[in-house]
Amino acid sequence: MDNEEIIRGADLARIIAIVSEYSQQKWALIPLLQKIQSEFGYIPPQSIPIIAKNLRLFPSQVQGVISFYTQLYTQPRGRKVIRVCRGTACHVRGGKTILKLVKRHLDLEEGETSPDLEYTLETVACIGVCALAPNIVVADHVHGHMNPKKVAQLFRNREGRE
Ligand code: FES
Repeated sequence: MDNEEIIRGADLARIIAIVSEYSQQKWALIPLLQKIQSEFGYIPPQSIPIIAKNLRLFPSQVQGVISFYTQLYTQPRGRKVIRVCRGTACHVRGGKTILKLVKRHLDLEEGETSPDLEYTLETVACIGVCALAPNIVVADHVHGHMNPKKVAQLFRNREGRE
């Protein structure tokens, strides 16, 4: 999906309407960003100058806040976020191979989102369930004791991309 396309017409009007709800209220920057993200799934970069002007901030200040909070995104994200654990326990139990297989099944590199916006692939340091290593998280659901067969089952609908 093209960002230019997203903010045309009704979407642009909607962004302006949301921003105007918080007119000149600098304190409201984070709730405003969260609201835009909850409606669009991310913060369209083109909305940043609109937000900045309305709150009387510099665009770089708005961008700085977005960059600071890891849960704010300026790129579209997949409906399912896949997080492959790269922590030590997962690593020693084959996490590297699991990541390689997930990349191959999804045809994605770390940080990428599939063109159909179905998946975003990320890695994490440790998800806190080391006893189940190696682990991956699919849409907030932990899948432990991963192996190549389980990876294939999880991403069956992506077969044919290998
Ligand atoms: S190292 Fe993967 S869950 Fe802890």
